[in-house]
Amino acid sequence: MQVIICKNAQDVGEAAAMIFASTIYAKPDCILGLATGSTPIPTYQKMIELYKRGLLDFSKVRSYNLDEYVGLSGDHPCSYRYFMNTELFDHVNIDKANTHVPSGLGADPEANAREYDKMLAACGGIDLQLLGIGRNGHIGFNEPNDDHFVYNTNIITLTESTREANAKYFDKPEDMPAKAISMGVGGIMAAKRVLLLATGSSKAQAIHDTVLGPVSPKCPASILQTHPNAQIICDEEAAALLK
Ligand code: GLP
Repeated sequence: MQVIICKNAQDVGEAAAMIFASTIYAKPDCILGLATGSTPIPTYQKMIELYKRGLLDFSKVRSYNLDEYVGLSGDHPCSYRYFMNTELFDHVNIDKANTHVPSGLGADPEANAREYDKMLAACGGIDLQLLGIGRNGHIGFNEPNDDHFVYNTNIITLTESTREANAKYFDKPEDMPAKAISMGVGGIMAAKRVLLLATGSSKAQAIHDTVLGPVSPKCPASILQTHPNAQIICDEEAAALLK
């Protein structure tokens, strides 16, 4: 696992966008694994800028997102589908029919999870998987636990730490769903290349545990130590405990 340390969040975004650009140049019909949260926003902004300058073409790109809240439809402003549309898809020439976000709707979210894994298996493999990281080391919404990694796309009960971190995006914190659907660690590890971004001091402990800790479900991101092509790009604050 390679660690690249940049000065600040803006530089992290620029570095990550360069990796996305090179992936799309090398394979115009590549499959991107995309993430939500505040961390990838500068990356998406840079990608939009490159597109607007005529330097990037998303017309053949396909994408699969990591996760979604259970119970939120795509037009809910706090849903991850809405986030992807407004932060990236609406501003570039990607065909929305080629973009996929797991669905947390319907009577049987577990069935949606199985369906998502079938789509992932059929898509031919994610070329570049983008990840943020939770303060507790979660990737996607794969929350820490004592004894096992969850490999398949699954329905997750969010931890207090995650609910507290994400409640700020909801008008009323109590409106935040208690559950989410998330690609499992298996789907993430199957990607050909993984790029995890982390910015800010609130991520320093999680980055320490990811890079220097044991590979353990207590810090789900630590499994990336065993990925053959994983990189972490973080700013100086998130890297503070690596020295
Ligand atoms: C959510 C998402 C994760 C994301 C994390 C960190 O929990 N499910 O994919 O990495 O938030 O978000 P932020 O980048 O806003 O700190």
